[in-house]
Order: sequence, then C-alpha cells, then structure tokens
Amino acid sequence: MRDILVAGNWKMNGDSASNSALLAGILAGMPDSERVRLLVCPPFPYLAATAHQVTGSRLALGAQTASEHAAGAYTGEVSVAMLADIGCEYVIVGHSERRSLFGESSSAVATKFEAVTAAGLTPILCVGESLDEREAGATESIIGEQLDAVLQQVGVAGLSNAVIAYEPVWAIGTGKTATPEQAQQVHRYIREKIAALDADIAAKILLLYGGSVKGDNAAGLFSMPDIDGGLIGGASLQADDFLAIANAAASI
Ligand code: PGA
Repeated sequence: MRDILVAGNWKMNGDSASNSALLAGILAGMPDSERVRLLVCPPFPYLAATAHQVTGSRLALGAQTASEHAAGAYTGEVSVAMLADIGCEYVIVGHSERRSLFGESSSAVATKFEAVTAAGLTPILCVGESLDEREAGATESIIGEQLDAVLQQVGVAGLSNAVIAYEPVWAIGTGKTATPEQAQQVHRYIREKIAALDADIAAKILLLYGGSVKGDNAAGLFSMPDIDGGLIGGASLQADDFLAIANAAASI
C-alpha cells in the first residue's frame, strides 16, 4: 500500500477566525489512516497560530514559498530557517503563480529548493505546462526543463527528501481537471526521468497531482499507479471539501 499525501494550498485566503474554524473542521474529521498524510499551507501571517493549533495532531504544516536567501537585507522575505523555527515541515517551491505572477525563474526555484532541503524541510516542487505548451506537444519538454533546473542544482540525491507536484497551469483554479490518464502519463514521465538517474529515489518519491482536484475526482486520480496524492487549492478552503479528498485517498 502506497503512502498518499494530500496538501492544501490556501493561497492568499482567510483570516484568523476563518482559518481557525477551517483547521478545527479538518482536525475533527481527518481519516484515521496511517497511509494518508495531510498537510495545510496557510499564508505566512497564520503559520505560527496554525502550528500551535495542529500540535499533537497528524496534520502537518507547510509554507507556500520561501526566500532563497538565508538571512539579511531582503525586505519582505521569509527564510526557510524561520519556517523551520515555527514548525513548518514542508515548503511549496515554484508554484505556477510564483513563476508567472512574481517572475520566479527555474533557476531561482532551484535555489529555493536547495535552501529548503538544506534546512531539513521537504520541498514540494511544482512543475507544469500551459495550455499553449500542451497544445504544441511540448508538455514533456517543459516539465523536463523545470526538473533539469533542480537536478543541475542539487543532483538526483537532492530529490531523496522531496515531493513533486505536477500542476498543469490550464487546470489550476479553472475547474478543468486533467483526466487521470493525462495526469498519469506525465507522472510516469517524471518518475521514469528520475529512475534513469536513481531507481530507488524514483520509486520512493511522492508525485502529487494539482489542478481542480475535488472530492468527486480525487479517487480516480489517486488510483493511478504514479499519482501519490494531490496539491489542493480551492477545495482546501472548506473542511468538508478537503476531507472529501482525504477520505477518497484513504479509500484507495
Ligand atoms: P486548484 O489549485 O485546486 O484551485 O486548482 C491547485 C493549486 O494551485 O495548487
């Protein structure tokens, strides 16, 4: 039986009261399964309160991004060490919104990835193609380049404590989910690319799918052999919706 990771990316949503209620709802209904790991990634200002609220539970905490710099004169930035200090275990790096809206290049993403692993946290590296790239038949070459940038920086050994999330840009927040077969095809490509460098790391690495995952499509996606869970945006903002996905994972 495979481990499945279901990660909620809250993006820039919520406030103290709504986040606390959302967490309480998730904590009350988490499936009792050792195999299913659940993770929430709130906005920075709420991480410390969330860490406090999830203490003693199996709900893990992650951040949505981090600085590639260790410390110093980087106004507005948050370092990986700070995230570790307050109890984060995971950091999302290279989400497509960071790449497209905030100009994060693949090499900056690779540097962030390295900073996260160096601090002993688990990076969730997001990769994915746009609709134009898919229609031009460039899906694998785009994802290959995004992975190569990280592999050049950290080598395949650097993936031994990492998670990769395949998130087709055209499926994020659009209600258009990749079919299980479309997602599986890309997940297999990613696993085989890693396996060519290290079969053991490839077999163990968790590959998440993200892009309009909901309670009613999660089981179909997570049943595919190379889909080890999901990175959930919109459906992570309501406890019932998130738990429906977690329960689908527990039913696999
Ligand atoms: P979505 O977002 O589930 O709302 O499509 C996924 C993500 O951006 O991680």
